[in-house]
Amino acid sequence: MRRVAIVTGSTGGIGSEFVRQIASDESIDEIWAVGRNKEKLDKLVSEYSKVVPVIADLSKGIGEISDRLKDANPEVKLLVNNAGTGYLGLFEHMGTEKVESLCTLNCTVPAMLVSECLPYMKEGSGIINISSSSSFQPNPYLTMYSASKVFVKNFSRALRVELKNRGIKVTCSCPGWVDTGMLPKEANGKKIHYTGMISPEKVVSKALADLRRGKELSLPSFFAKYFRVYSKLMPTKLVMGQWAWIMRKYV
Ligand SMILES: NC(=O)c1ccc[n+]([C@@H]2O[C@H](COP(=O)([O-])OP(=O)(O)OC[C@H]3O[C@@H](n4cnc5c(N)ncnc54)[C@H](OP(=O)(O)O)[C@@H]3O)[C@@H](O)[C@H]2O)c1
Repeated sequence: MRRVAIVTGSTGGIGSEFVRQIASDESIDEIWAVGRNKEKLDKLVSEYSKVVPVIADLSKGIGEISDRLKDANPEVKLLVNNAGTGYLGLFEHMGTEKVESLCTLNCTVPAMLVSECLPYMKEGSGIINISSSSSFQPNPYLTMYSASKVFVKNFSRALRVELKNRGIKVTCSCPGWVDTGMLPKEANGKKIHYTGMISPEKVVSKALADLRRGKELSLPSFFAKYFRVYSKLMPTKLVMGQWAWIMRKYV
């Protein structure tokens, strides 16, 4: 039985780093690298012999992955729910189409993939869900994004408890700013400064280490740890107000 890792968003900054770090794991035979961008997937295939490309627009559903699971009947050793999208701006400008696709990609797809993969998982399998420090408090101007990341975090933490009996570990990664293509360099004509930004490499190595340790949350930087404590101790209204004051100039 082939032992596979499934990584969504594997053509992006954090996802491709997951592929790179998992590639040397001898307990995994294949990495199903999921993304829409064929050229980037082809590049991964040329770099890592274990990569099996899965071209799929997940905002339209997970059929591509479900079909492959049925055909190959593998053991899913690792599922990384990483694909995600954001929207910086006023919610009222977002429009229903973007609202729906963000909810689908960031919330529905991770839950559906867990549901689909669980029958193929055994004791020792693992799930990493990528949330964000945006889940620590509501973030105006990233309104839908931060709400979606609360879903991922709560889903992940509760799931971890449910799956303990089966010996399946679940870790939720909550990075602060990460240096990837997701972050615009400027907005509203102004260069954006990202406090405490870290590399995808750090996010991924910490998430994999925290999964091995069975930790529920993975906080890969001082900034993420500090922000979590700060958001817990300070009134939400104050933390939101500070965030809104910083971000207002970009929208
Ligand atoms: N960058 C940050 O500061 C930061 C901080 C905290 C959390 N995160 C989270 O980390 C995760 C990865 O983000 P990243 O920073 O690595 O961003 P990224 O470089 O923009 O990568 C996003 C990935 O998601 C995939 N994706 C987007 N829409 C998709 C769709 N409809 N169907 C299938 N795949 C889709 C993209 O693949 P294709 O383009 O090939 O479709 C890409 O591989 C996200 O969940 C994000 O919310 C990021």
